[in-house]
Amino acid sequence: MKLTIIGYWLLVGIFLPSYVVQGTHNTPRLVAVPAAPIGDGVDVRKFPSYFAFGAATAAYQIEGGWNEDGKGASVWDTLTHQHPELVVDRANGDVAADSYHRFREDIAALEEVGFSFYRFSISWSRILPEGDLSSLRLAGIQYYNNLINSLLEANITPVVTMLHYDVPQYVQNLGGLASPLFVQYFKIYADTLFRYFGDRVKVWITHNEPWDFCVTGYGSGTEGPLVHAPGVGEYLCAHHVLLSHATVFHLYDEKYRKEQAGSVGITLSGRFFYPANSKTGPDVVDRALQYQLGWFAHPLFSGAGGYPPLMVQEIADHSLRENRTMSRLPEMSDEIKQFIRGSADFLGYNYYSSRLVELDKRDYNESSPPSVEKDTGVLYSVDRSWKRAKSSWLYVVPKGLRGVLNWFKKEYNNPPVLITENGYSDDGQLEDHERIDFYRSHLTQLLDAILIDKCNVFGFTTWSIVDNFEWLRGYSEKFGLYHVNFSSSNRERVPKLSSKFFKTVIQSGTIPT
Ligand code: BGC
Repeated sequence: MKLTIIGYWLLVGIFLPSYVVQGTHNTPRLVAVPAAPIGDGVDVRKFPSYFAFGAATAAYQIEGGWNEDGKGASVWDTLTHQHPELVVDRANGDVAADSYHRFREDIAALEEVGFSFYRFSISWSRILPEGDLSSLRLAGIQYYNNLINSLLEANITPVVTMLHYDVPQYVQNLGGLASPLFVQYFKIYADTLFRYFGDRVKVWITHNEPWDFCVTGYGSGTEGPLVHAPGVGEYLCAHHVLLSHATVFHLYDEKYRKEQAGSVGITLSGRFFYPANSKTGPDVVDRALQYQLGWFAHPLFSGAGGYPPLMVQEIADHSLRENRTMSRLPEMSDEIKQFIRGSADFLGYNYYSSRLVELDKRDYNESSPPSVEKDTGVLYSVDRSWKRAKSSWLYVVPKGLRGVLNWFKKEYNNPPVLITENGYSDDGQLEDHERIDFYRSHLTQLLDAILIDKCNVFGFTTWSIVDNFEWLRGYSEKFGLYHVNFSSSNRERVPKLSSKFFKTVIQSGTIPT
C-alpha cells in the first residue's frame, strides 16, 4: 500500500512545479465602466456600476456538430450513444441548439438583451480529441476564434469555461479524473487555450461544478462518465480537480499572466441549508456546507488550506472502520496545500436551490457501501412551502443565495464572487412569468447581499441564453431566455418574456417590480 501512495505522489510530483505562488485576486472587469466601490448606490437599490450581467451555456448542451471537422467523442457522446435509455426521450447533443453553425444567432440574442459578457465552454475533444497536442484540430481552434472574435465585435466579453463535464473519451479511457494523469493532460489543454485564445480571452474558469460531476460521474456512476466507485471515486475526482485547477493557475502566472493580464477562477455549485427542525443546530448546517462547498472552497480560499478539517478527520475514521489502510479522502501534503491555496483570482458560484438538513442519527455502518452522502451524515428534505420548477430538484429558495454569499464572506474573508449560473426550468413557454418571478426574487436577495451585507459579488450570469440539452433530462426541461425550436432544422431562437425583463434590469441597473 505504501508503494502505491509513494507512486501516486511521484506521478503527481512530476507535474507540479516546486514553488508556490499565491493568488492575487485580480477581479475581472466585465463591464466597460470605471469600477466603483462596493456600496455605490446603497440608497437607490441599484446594482453598482461595476456590476456585470451575462448569460451562460456549455459546449455539449448547445453546439451539436458532435463529430464534425475531426471532433472526437466526449464522455457525454459516449453516454448518449451507448446508453440512450438513460436520457429522457433517448435524446442526445448530436445537434442540440446547433450553435456550432448558429453561434451568431446566440450572439444576436445576447446583444438584444444587452449582456456584457458570455460564459461558454470549450469542447476539449473538438480541439484535442486525444487530449494532447498530438491530435490538434485547427478547425476546432477556428470555430472558437470565430466565436470569440464575433463576441468582441459585439462588445461582449468572453468568459471561458475550460471543462463543463465533457471530458474527451480518450482521456477518460486513461482514467479520466480518477487518475493523476488527468492533471498533466489538463495542463496541456489549458496551455493550448491560453496560447490560442488568451490574447482575447481574459476571464477563465477551469472547472464547472466539480461536486456534481464527481459525485454523479465517479461515485453513484449515474451520469457521464458513468464510473461507479462510491465513496472513493468522488474523492479522487475532486482531488484531481483541485490539483489540475491549481496547476493551470500557476501555469498562467508563470507563462501568460504578465502579457495577457487576465484572471483564472473555478466554478463551484452547492445548496444553502436550513435546519429541518428545532433540534438541528448551526453545526449541522455548517457540516452540510463543508461537505459540499467547503470540500473545494476550503483548499482554495481558506487561510489554512487543505480539505475542511471535519472531512479529513471523519473520512479517515470511516476508512479505518472499513479496514482500509489509508483514508478514502486523499492526503494533502503541506506543499500541495500551499500549491492549491490562493490559486484562484475569483470564486465562480452556481446557485439554484436549497435544502433542509438534520443529523442522520444512525450509527456509521461500515458494512454498507461508503459514499459522500454517507460520510456527510445528514438527511436532506424540503420545506413544503417551497415551490418547485419543472426540474424535480429545483425548489425555489431565493434567500439561499444570500445565505451562501454570506457564508463565503464569513468563511473565506469575502473573496470576489462571480455568480456563474442561476436559472429556472419550465416547459418552454414564451410568456415565462414564473422564470421572471424566479429571477426577480433572486436578484433581490443578491442586491441585499451586495448592498446590505457587503458581499463582494461582481457579476451575475443567467442560465441560459437559449434552451438546450439538459443532460439526463434531454430536451424535456427548458432553461433558456430564448426558446429554441428543436423540431426545426433551423433551430430558430425566439425571445421569451424573461429576455425583456433582463433587458430592463441591465438598462436601469434596478429590479423592475
Ligand atoms: C449545470 C448546467 C445545467 C444546469 C441546470 C448546472 O448545474 O452547470 O450544465 O444545465 O445546472 O441543470
